[in-house]
Amino acid sequence: MTSPLLELDRVTKRFGRVVIAEDLSFSVGAGETVGIVGPNGAGKTSLFGLISGDLAPNAGQVSFAGRTVTRLDSAARCRLGIGRTYQVPRPFVDMTVFENVLVAAQQGGRLGRKASYPAAAAALERTGIAGEANVPAGRLGLLARKRLEIARALATGPQLLLLDEVAGGLTDPEVTVLVEIVRAVNAEGVAVIWIEHVVRALTSLVTRMTCLYGGEFIGDGTPGEVLADPRVREVYLGSDIDASTIQQVIKEEGAP
Ligand SMILES: Nc1ncnc2c1ncn2[C@@H]1O[C@H](COP(=O)(O)OP(=O)(O)OP(=O)(O)O)[C@@H](O)[C@H]1O
Ligand SMILES: [Mg+2]
Repeated sequence: MTSPLLELDRVTKRFGRVVIAEDLSFSVGAGETVGIVGPNGAGKTSLFGLISGDLAPNAGQVSFAGRTVTRLDSAARCRLGIGRTYQVPRPFVDMTVFENVLVAAQQGGRLGRKASYPAAAAALERTGIAGEANVPAGRLGLLARKRLEIARALATGPQLLLLDEVAGGLTDPEVTVLVEIVRAVNAEGVAVIWIEHVVRALTSLVTRMTCLYGGEFIGDGTPGEVLADPRVREVYLGSDIDASTIQQVIKEEGAP
């Protein structure tokens, strides 16, 4: 069996009494699409930090593309092929869209000047924002900002793309646009882990889903299976996940 692209082996991470991960093991294969749901504050963004190298675990190992990266910082992991978006995007607002993506290619992807230009241009094309290349990032509307955030991650040349709530605040048609961008990126072989409260975005793309809660993953299966799991539904009682979407997915998938 080939080794997975990403592997978390018995990872534990706590902030004082807040448990992000407790002896958590999880793996993602090359080209796979995985959705992660979980209530606010469950630790989803922190989990991305553990994968991307922004956070160090208290215990356990993280491996990527066949090597242990637990002690590598985020810059080194980015060079190995882990790209991420941020829940709160941090573009350079006074720089143009193109300059923002160029910086990502040069700093994150460690591309030289010559290689960084075509890489940046390709990232703009892939996210459908090439038409706004010369617009200052601070003047973009919400969908364009999301496109830019993904473009910046893509410019680093990831094999694994971590998306942190990129669909939040978008209209339904805009969510569809975003899903199609991610689908096309995945079709080129990039694995995707997508954290999202907008469940419809996940269910229209991912083949696998899990729910982070209390430092553990509850359920790991198709979106229909996971959303129908009584433990997941209990976690979500009274939360912002949309119950009617869940019903719809369960019906469409014919899950129990
Ligand atoms: N650097 C940090 N130091 C201390 N506590 C932190 C740190 N980062 C996150 N936390 C805490 O860890 C918990 C999980 O936060 P995190 O942002 O990972 O959750 P989340 O699942 O992404 O939530 P949301 O759905 O609101 O984005 C929260 O209680 C948060 O306050
Ligand atoms: Mg978060």
